[in-house]
Amino acid sequence: MSSFRDDGALALDWVASYLERAGELPVLSQVEPGQIRAALPASPPEEPEPFEAVLRDLDDVLLPGVTHWQSPRFFAYFATTGSEPGILAELLIAGLNQVGILWRSSPALQELEELTLDWLRQLVGLPAGFHGHIEDTASTGVLASLAVARMLHPDRRVVVCSEHVHSLADKAARLLELELRKVPVDDQFRLRPELLELNDACAVVATIGTTGAAAIDPVPAIADRCQTTGAWLHVDAAYAGAAAVCPELRHHFAGWDRADSITVNPHKWLGVPMDCSALWTRRPEDFRRAFSLVPEFLQSSDDAVNLSEVSIPLGRRFRALKLWAVLRCYGRAGLQERIREHVRLAALFEEWVRGEPAWEIVAPRHFSLVCFRREGSDAENERLLERVNDSGEVFISHARLGDRYALRLAVGNFRTSEDDVRTAWDVLRREASAL
Ligand SMILES: Cc1ncc(COP(=O)(O)O)c(C=O)c1O
Repeated sequence: MSSFRDDGALALDWVASYLERAGELPVLSQVEPGQIRAALPASPPEEPEPFEAVLRDLDDVLLPGVTHWQSPRFFAYFATTGSEPGILAELLIAGLNQVGILWRSSPALQELEELTLDWLRQLVGLPAGFHGHIEDTASTGVLASLAVARMLHPDRRVVVCSEHVHSLADKAARLLELELRKVPVDDQFRLRPELLELNDACAVVATIGTTGAAAIDPVPAIADRCQTTGAWLHVDAAYAGAAAVCPELRHHFAGWDRADSITVNPHKWLGVPMDCSALWTRRPEDFRRAFSLVPEFLQSSDDAVNLSEVSIPLGRRFRALKLWAVLRCYGRAGLQERIREHVRLAALFEEWVRGEPAWEIVAPRHFSLVCFRREGSDAENERLLERVNDSGEVFISHARLGDRYALRLAVGNFRTSEDDVRTAWDVLRREASAL
């Protein structure tokens, strides 16, 4: 066995040089399905191998099968960043290998998780009174929130949302055997509150920053209706929630302080490596009623509510450590600076598109996502997307907005510069003229 310190130095060096050259690699992996698996042995090794062999295969075999989310020219879906403090904290998390099943199994894990979620609550301008914990993903956060809503209203089996809700709501409703009722949107892709029918609804999922167009549902009007009918209000701000760190963007979040539960993903636009999803609720006691189940072998006399009593899993990772590291190493000012820069870059790209004949913007831009298309059929825009992504120079994605196919450029990687956005625009125009 070689030494942990030597291997550790090699691994850190590997990551540092990877981050330096991530921008030079084809952003979207160019392999065929099955290619990576076929290049690896079908059976496990009999004898121990040195860690260096793992690093070698990472370079030679796995790297071609990596789509580079760390690339500054990743503009697909919602772009993310595994920031340097977050990466280092992941090492510490694995080193400590805490298993947060009960407060006593790791007091630091539990208390840091509650503290960092309270810091983040303050950073995004939510009032005191929200209790936060970390889930792996927003999908789990919505599933948990809807499970609480169902428990509170056993005779109401409907969840209401806009037709632009993320598929996580469809999945949660299916798992919980609830009916998902989708409300049409207006011409800006926002839920139309006048069409809400909530008498049989246990919950509404409203989205601030929808996946397709980053549209903003009218949360104040939805909250009024939830208040009258008693329906639970969940606000999904998985992507856009990070923008509330900037006071000038907070008007987009009007009414979210009236939600019963809220999800924001620090692993999307706040520099925390995958995975880390914040879930706040104003009703932690209801979460506890839904999820608390402490078997005999885990009972203790500790005067603390274990986080496992307000969430689905028993054991939890020390995710709070990476969130804490990122919040400390960037500070409010550092996070604001990055989010503002991304919004500026998206506005710039939008300006270029608007200024060029044959191209159009197809949804209002509120944050760092631009939805656009080139004149011509949906099929032609689809072909354009494929050509752009096959070039490996940038990676963008698409959405269907109403009956139209839209291209999406999402700025969200901390390493993205104006030059990278300019490259995306150059590649798009080059490939469009070659079509
Ligand atoms: C609005 C919205 N909600 C939820 C999700 C899903 O997040 P997760 O992968 O954390 O479940 C996404 C993913 O892009 C999203 O855009």
